[in-house]
Amino acid sequence: MAVWSPAARGFAARLIRWHKRHGRHDLPWQNTADPYRVWLSEIMLQQTQVVTVIPYYLRFLERFPQLADLAAAPVEEVMALWSGLGYYARARNLHAAARAVIAQHGGKLPRDPAVIAQLPGIGRSTANSIATFCFGAHAPILDGNVKRVLCRAFGVEGFPGSGAVEKHLWALADELMPARHGAIHNQAQMDLGAMVCTRGKPRCEACPLADICVARAGGRTAELPQARPRREIPLRHATLLVIQHGKRVLLETRPPAGIWGGLLSLPELPAGADAQEWAERHFACRVIAVSPARCVPLGTFEHVFSHFRLNIAPLLLQVTPGPAVMEPGWQWQELAGIESAALPAPIRRILEDVQISGNRPLPSR
Ligand code: ADE
Repeated sequence: MAVWSPAARGFAARLIRWHKRHGRHDLPWQNTADPYRVWLSEIMLQQTQVVTVIPYYLRFLERFPQLADLAAAPVEEVMALWSGLGYYARARNLHAAARAVIAQHGGKLPRDPAVIAQLPGIGRSTANSIATFCFGAHAPILDGNVKRVLCRAFGVEGFPGSGAVEKHLWALADELMPARHGAIHNQAQMDLGAMVCTRGKPRCEACPLADICVARAGGRTAELPQARPRREIPLRHATLLVIQHGKRVLLETRPPAGIWGGLLSLPELPAGADAQEWAERHFACRVIAVSPARCVPLGTFEHVFSHFRLNIAPLLLQVTPGPAVMEPGWQWQELAGIESAALPAPIRRILEDVQISGNRPLPSR
């Protein structure tokens, strides 16, 4: 174990001293020990930067000030407040976990990190963060920022997402945990990773670990942590139908599993189907000619998910009359009301463009 390398000596003390002067102390979820608020912030901050999270966090708490408010709300409303933040499984799990806390823990988040980690959507690092910030637990964290700091400071080789490297990093994080000030130590590591030991262009001159950092000594900050072994991200295609009736468009709730699970979206044209024929049969409507065509392409664009890229081709169809029978999960959405609908960001953008430009082709993005 590399822990007795020079980098380990005084690691926590250096970080804690640095944090006092240079760390973040006034984020909206700091200076509270309310487990619900801390938990919400930690979930929103997964894979998402602080500046993006802040407005979502504040809006969310305005609507759901207490854990019981969140648990009592329909999941659709939670999804609507999350829309645009991405990684929607986080919102579904948060809601499920709030209900589990009410049902199984008397409405109070448990104090033991191992028990917190059994709730939906809460992994070991998030559970440990919450337990150190709220209950003074002695528990290390290992999110993306901390992995980067440790890989560089200790010269840890290999992709940090692989099982063996992650196991090594957990052992290291555990040994570096100081006997006191665990919460500050954890926050300091996150802040250092976000503000100084950044992925590109780290500010080593401002780093409290600079003189003991293995990556810096070897001129290897650009190489560590090592990237995920390369594999091609597949490209998929989706034709999405903007079925418009006056000032309304037809939306479908996505199935709970898969991309945009539980959110509203535009109907997807099955591969190889003819748009007009399929829409008329599927939705029992009649497509009207808008000169010169019946189906107007609105300009394709690409959206990147974690495991694939999606080439999205929206197609506008004006229809009359509306569907005779509305199936569960279908709904007519007023274009004027899309702001508060539970829409993924790319769908929201398409509808905003339709609202603004009518049926003119959208500019390519
Ligand atoms: N990222 C994850 N948790 C965080 C926190 N508590 N403060 C800042 N960034 C974070």
